[in-house]
Amino acid sequence: MRIAIGADHGGYHLKEEIRQSLEKSGHTVQDFGCYSTESVDYPDYAILVTRAIQQNEADKGILVCGTGIGMSIAANKQSGIRAALCHDLFSAQATREHNDSNVLCMGGRVIGSGLALSIVDTWLNTEFSGGRHLRRIAKLEPAADETAEAEFSSEQLQLQATDLMHELAEKSNLEPGSLVVIGCSTSEIGGHRIGSASSAETAAAVYAGLRKAADAHQLILAFQCCEHLNRSLVVERSTMERYDLEQVSVVPAPHAGGAMATQAFSQLADAVVVNDLHHKARAGLDIGDTMIGMHLAWVAVPLRLAHKTLGKANVHAAFSRPRLVGGKRAVYSQEQAQEANRI
Ligand code: RB5
Repeated sequence: MRIAIGADHGGYHLKEEIRQSLEKSGHTVQDFGCYSTESVDYPDYAILVTRAIQQNEADKGILVCGTGIGMSIAANKQSGIRAALCHDLFSAQATREHNDSNVLCMGGRVIGSGLALSIVDTWLNTEFSGGRHLRRIAKLEPAADETAEAEFSSEQLQLQATDLMHELAEKSNLEPGSLVVIGCSTSEIGGHRIGSASSAETAAAVYAGLRKAADAHQLILAFQCCEHLNRSLVVERSTMERYDLEQVSVVPAPHAGGAMATQAFSQLADAVVVNDLHHKARAGLDIGDTMIGMHLAWVAVPLRLAHKTLGKANVHAAFSRPRLVGGKRAVYSQEQAQEANRI
């Protein structure tokens, strides 16, 4: 089963145990964070997990906070979501049979992991009874015109950006000092066509979020300007010197460079614009279909992130690996080399 999971700091430890147990049982788990016990806001994670269900990227969701209450309130405000707060096996079974609940909520400060894992097991393995319960759950959904599409706050966008960068760094095994290219359309984040509604406020939030995680992993960021500046990039002068890049003469502006490049130019220490990265980016994050592939080192490998959107923009990611060169006798790992040396 495809299961989306999420937690705040109060549920982080239990969420980690649940993730390991689900993976061991062969489920496909999308972990939307959080990734530490640093204080965060539970509604942000409830939205990420429930959106995965709404977009049919997950079959069910599990949310953990301190009590499970905040998560269940937040999840139940999302359309099509029936979240059940369960701390006993009877409720876990009954809510599947009667409510066809698609999200399970628990409190990391309420129950131990032994009981929690049994509840997860019971909940996942109990079928909906249908019949009269179908009529009842149909009455839970508000009329279509009452469900306005949610807007994202700056805080939510910042948090989503931090999570994306953490996930990219961890899944790409990026070493400190790696160069990462960022493409970002603030218009797409707001649900508009690229280049049509740039937002300085969105750029500031996303920049702050990316920066936070990039600093934690000691990554160097390069921000791609829009095509009106030929996809040149904003970097720190020290990055230009370290990678021997060619400086070009331009100052990014919202409609010639883009809101994110403008923000980066004002925030990076001694910012400059360079023509290209000489294909030296070890990884990249493309927020809003901005096409960053031309800056990546050979060979670019697509990375499937658990987080597939930031605000309303699509997100794609990639990392690079060295080319595999050689003929029939070539070996590609230390283990293979040791084996070859034995002969
Ligand atoms: C965080 O301290 C706590 O309020 C949260 O984890 C949850 O219990 C909310 O309902």
